[in-house]
Amino acid sequence: MNARPGGLHDSATTAAFDAPRWRRDFPIMKQRVHGKPLVYLDNAATSQKPQAVIDAVSDYYQHYNSNVHRGVHQLSELATAAYEGAREKLRQFINAASKQEIIFVRGTTEAINLVAQSYGRSHLQSGDEIILSEMEHHSNIVPWQLLREQTGVTLKVIPINDAGELQPGAYETLFSARTRLVSLAHVSNALGSVNPVKEMISLAHQHNVPLLLDGAQAVPHMPVDVRDLDCDFYAFSSHKMFGPTGIGVLYAKEQILIDMPPYQGGGEMIRTVRFNGSTWNELPHKFEAGTPDIAAAIGLGAAVDYLETIGMPSIRDYERGLLEYGTQQLQSLAGVKIVGTARHKAGVLSFVMDGVHPHDIGTIVDQQGVAIRTGHHCAMPVMEHFHIPATARASLAFYNTREDINALVQALDKVREVFR
Ligand code: ALA
Repeated sequence: MNARPGGLHDSATTAAFDAPRWRRDFPIMKQRVHGKPLVYLDNAATSQKPQAVIDAVSDYYQHYNSNVHRGVHQLSELATAAYEGAREKLRQFINAASKQEIIFVRGTTEAINLVAQSYGRSHLQSGDEIILSEMEHHSNIVPWQLLREQTGVTLKVIPINDAGELQPGAYETLFSARTRLVSLAHVSNALGSVNPVKEMISLAHQHNVPLLLDGAQAVPHMPVDVRDLDCDFYAFSSHKMFGPTGIGVLYAKEQILIDMPPYQGGGEMIRTVRFNGSTWNELPHKFEAGTPDIAAAIGLGAAVDYLETIGMPSIRDYERGLLEYGTQQLQSLAGVKIVGTARHKAGVLSFVMDGVHPHDIGTIVDQQGVAIRTGHHCAMPVMEHFHIPATARASLAFYNTREDINALVQALDKVREVFR
């Protein structure tokens, strides 16, 4: 069984956590789908939004919609205060040292592209090496491939084992005198594996190499402290952490950001513009060209407030227990095989079923009101490793319950009936 250490304690925590109470904060959960109550198990793709987030976005548009950092009029001052207030909430949430280190971007993908194009193009050259892993999301592969085409850098890949863990010992052997960056998932979106990132950061630093973490699947599910981790870059998306779409955060250590050129030009990122040359605004604005998604940033700030009301340690412990339960339930089903059985996992249950294509699983369970994702999960190299085209994936959030898992299991019984 794939339970994490401390399983018994986790089960007790699961009982104490009042998931149904939190679920009531999410208006969409009252929906019926195909006449059945919605069972939403696609949180790794995007999470649902609590009323507090919806209200924060709506309040901005209804009462103080205005551009930020530009007007002296009252609405603009209110909008600027709320936008910058959200940045401070994010700073506290991940324990960054200063607000200058919190760059608002469109999401994790844009954050990694920003680092590749700004840091990568200014600091790396032909023959330099970047270490990635076989479990990366395409968003943490393709930006580096684009950089490879532009600069001639080399990509080295940490292989995974059949449990979906980074192969022990492999990472260290990939360092050379030309290693310039490591870029790694904190938690795998396709497998749920939680990587031993603290040790990996420490090892990278012993080689004087900075490390970027793709935290898209970590931040909604566990406390993240960038200063404790000592990572150099950390990227995450609002929409997976109960905030609006279209916004996310790139955290980077201040000195690194100071040494990076702008990524995009125009709007808020400039200080002076003349035809013979321009100068850049201070951090974090140097990396925020154009009018940002103000409403989404404010909504993300509300999501942070909401998560802090519940408490990230409680969310982590509760989801651990739920994952343990889900793992036991799926493992007890004949013909179902879980893909991704790492010892340390977050709430992702990727699985395949004998004789049934994952897309058929997804379609049939949808008829029962159960929403899961099927496909390669933007992690084709992971599928290649396991010699499968796709998996079905149930992914958990703190508002899910054992009843949701039971509904999935019942829906899988229907799949079995159809394909008997
Ligand atoms: N990266 C998101 C997922 O895993 C979209 O589903």
